Amino acid sequence: MSHIQADDTLREWTESAPHWKKHAQTIRTMFAPLTRALIEEAGIVEGQSVLDVAAGPGEPSLTIAEVVGPSGSVTCTDAVADMVSAAKSEARRRGLTNIEFRQCGADSLPFEDNSFDAVVSRLGVMFFPDPLAAMREMLRVTKSSGRLSVAVWHRSDLNPFSYVVTDAVSRCVETPPVDPGAPGAFRFAEPGALTGVLRQAGAIEVHERLLSFHIQARISPEEFWALRSETSGTLRARIKKLSAQEKVKIAHEVQKAAREFFPNNQMSFPAQAIIVTGKDGS
Ligand SMILES: C[S@@+](CC[C@H](N)C(=O)[O-])C[C@H]1O[C@@H](n2cnc3c(N)ncnc32)[C@H](O)[C@@H]1O
Repeated sequence: MSHIQADDTLREWTESAPHWKKHAQTIRTMFAPLTRALIEEAGIVEGQSVLDVAAGPGEPSLTIAEVVGPSGSVTCTDAVADMVSAAKSEARRRGLTNIEFRQCGADSLPFEDNSFDAVVSRLGVMFFPDPLAAMREMLRVTKSSGRLSVAVWHRSDLNPFSYVVTDAVSRCVETPPVDPGAPGAFRFAEPGALTGVLRQAGAIEVHERLLSFHIQARISPEEFWALRSETSGTLRARIKKLSAQEKVKIAHEVQKAAREFFPNNQMSFPAQAIIVTGKDGS
């Protein structure tokens, strides 16, 4: 990926930051099962020092800060300054004192070799311009005794949280074909794809866990559409071009398609993710 494209990607994330901040509490609840699985896979316990790469407005960093406790520490990073400041203000609001913040890209981490007991990244690596370089960096800063664990989406057809929106939008707006190798939510959706990158980066004891869970939160279909249409840069770009009437039609279509996943008017989507874990082999 050229630097110009990389800059475009980061501009999109910068524009997304206020929306991620606005919906941060719901996102935290929705993806809590992913955070728990990452903590398990990376073997995170009280007293450890943990690095979180591409933490957005603060997860899983904030949850891990509670797990490692006052004798441990978390370093929360993201490439986008506004994401880091959203995470920082939430940590301050909670009175957390064992968490530090750095704005940095995943492929040039400003930390010494072997700095952390564990390194995690939740739903970030598929968006990196150079995932192999990022995996090498994350392994470099992991202690030889520690683990790197990374969570990505499994296939789109297994994740109605995504496809009820993209299918409804595609019916209303012309949608260009997606390059499966380009940065995007489902870039590492095939089992084995990300373990290949991690092995190529030099990891040993690599394994992959397929995680089935439910994306749950006390929100209505209307709030679901607001969250999805505001937090996704791709969706925002597509919707921006529509007339007011078309926007209302799309919102209606998505909410109708999503309704079966809102028993008692509360969201519950079955979901599948892939968690890849390894150790530095150098
Ligand atoms: C889907 S969000 C995930 C945020 C958070 N980990 C979560 O699970 O809620 C992806 C994050 O990756 C960050 N990001 C994108 N490219 C990056 C890069 N090259 N290095 C570090 N972070 C990056 C974005 O700014 C965004 O905050």
